Amino acid sequence: ESFFNGQNSFSGKKVLITAGPTYEAIDPVRFIGNHSSGKMGYALAETIARKGGAVTLVSGPVSLAVPAGVELVRVQSAAEMHDACMKRQADYDIAILSAAVADYTPEEVAAEKIKKSEAGLTLTLRKTPDILASLGAAKKKGQLLVGFALETNNELANARKKLESKNADMIVLNSLNDSGAGFGKPTNKITLVLDNGRELAFETKTKEAVAEDIAGQVLQMIS
Ligand code: CTP
Ligand code: CA
Repeated sequence: ESFFNGQNSFSGKKVLITAGPTYEAIDPVRFIGNHSSGKMGYALAETIARKGGAVTLVSGPVSLAVPAGVELVRVQSAAEMHDACMKRQADYDIAILSAAVADYTPEEVAAEKIKKSEAGLTLTLRKTPDILASLGAAKKKGQLLVGFALETNNELANARKKLESKNADMIVLNSLNDSGAGFGKPTNKITLVLDNGRELAFETKTKEAVAEDIAGQVLQMIS
């Protein structure tokens, strides 16, 4: 990729990417999290930066190297990730939200480490802000918004519902059913759900190769 033109380059484009899990604090030493490795989002950041994009990567806690030329914004919680993205709402051309954002967060964070008790423990959780829906509601003409969806049943219908309800332009549907694909794995099997009613299904590939497929489709959509 030494030769760039309007169709194979992100040159001049500001690209906002979210990646990784979020950690929702329970007390000073504990959190609610998930198994997201961040690999898919970091592969997207690497691919798009290599193709000339100015990438800002808003990342939850992961243990991955920051790709060359990528601006990293570290966050922990869904609320922090939401704030970091909304601060940049007016300033992106393309946003790709691959983070596995926690849907719920503890209503209260205990100031001290919670002691164990024979009675057990009940946590009250409340919904986190939906970053994709917030960016979708604030989206301006010329901005392209891409979300992800992880589904185990009625995959395509649920992904299309997310596309519409969150005002996204494309949803990357991840198939968990396919063995060898998903959390912590080096591979993914995706279907791109487009806002023109079409769907593009891909084979199981490395996350780097999946990032190339997603980037290629985004380039088609902006040219
Ligand atoms: N997402 C987000 N903020 C949240 C939850 C999800 O930005 N608080 C984004 C994810 O990054 C992803 C998309 O929304 O791009 C879909 O996430 P997913 O978990 O599949 O869908 P939800 O809307 O959270 O619905 P559910 O988990 O019930 O399927
Ligand atoms: Ca969710």
